[in-house]
Amino acid sequence: MKLVGVQKTLSPVLKAKALDNRLPVPILGDAYAERVMRRLDPAYDSGRFGASQLGLAAVVRAKVLDDWARSFLADHPEAVVLNLGCGLDARVYRIDPAATVEWYDLDYPGVMDLRRQFLPARQHCTPIGSDVTDLGWLTRVRHDVPVLVIAEGLIPYLTEAGARLLLTSIVDAFPAGQLEFDTVSVAAWRAARWDPLGRKYNAQFHCGFDDPAALADWHPRLEYVDEAPMNDSPELMAKAPATIRRVYRLMNLVPAFKRSSRILRFRF
Ligand SMILES: C[S@@+](CC[C@H](N)C(=O)[O-])C[C@H]1O[C@@H](n2cnc3c(N)ncnc32)[C@H](O)[C@@H]1O
Repeated sequence: MKLVGVQKTLSPVLKAKALDNRLPVPILGDAYAERVMRRLDPAYDSGRFGASQLGLAAVVRAKVLDDWARSFLADHPEAVVLNLGCGLDARVYRIDPAATVEWYDLDYPGVMDLRRQFLPARQHCTPIGSDVTDLGWLTRVRHDVPVLVIAEGLIPYLTEAGARLLLTSIVDAFPAGQLEFDTVSVAAWRAARWDPLGRKYNAQFHCGFDDPAALADWHPRLEYVDEAPMNDSPELMAKAPATIRRVYRLMNLVPAFKRSSRILRFRF
């Protein structure tokens, strides 16, 4: 099974999580990431920058989304979780939710086939192979309990209209819930056109927001909660190797870089 286009973007994020697990004190500490990455690409950490920890900001993002998810599930023990654009991330194993939580992992069918090969099946965790914007999948999930939506590294790859329809349809379908996702700035969206990795993968960003809190205006029931730091996260500065900290400190001097990616939480 070969990953195509935007599906290939799962690999640098997984690699960052795999390398994080080798830190003396990891940020995420996901042993699954190391195992799955090795199967996806046995030589992933070879070459000049193969073991570089430059991708650690993406690991911070995963940790924030996990922490928010744990806190939501502590308050809502009976819930549905929609992990959208899940890639090969092992979130359900990291969070290990109670059996009262119905968890759905959703990505393109080809990615879900790989998940089946690399990650064990689990009760109360249902894989769905679909384009997230083909909303037919939404009829397959339980609707009578609060929902937690996690979309890690997904929204920038959707068009604004696609992201809006996706999120507002979910709000319409559930009595209450929380949405956690990341966005990129308008400048980062435009600049990504020249990103060599995006060009290589033929996976471009399709939307960007300078005031992502305003996405609450997309639906009358939606309310902005808060945002967590990513590129300037204290955890990144505490746990990244010194050389990586220096690079981030330098790049964060440019405000456009510091706020190029935002991690956000909304409720309804
Ligand atoms: C940057 S990766 C992030 C993967 C995973 N969430 C993580 O953080 O490790 C983006 C993921 O979104 C998926 N994706 C992008 N657009 C999608 C769509 N329209 N429908 C379903 N999945 C999509 C890709 O296949 C890929 O797995």
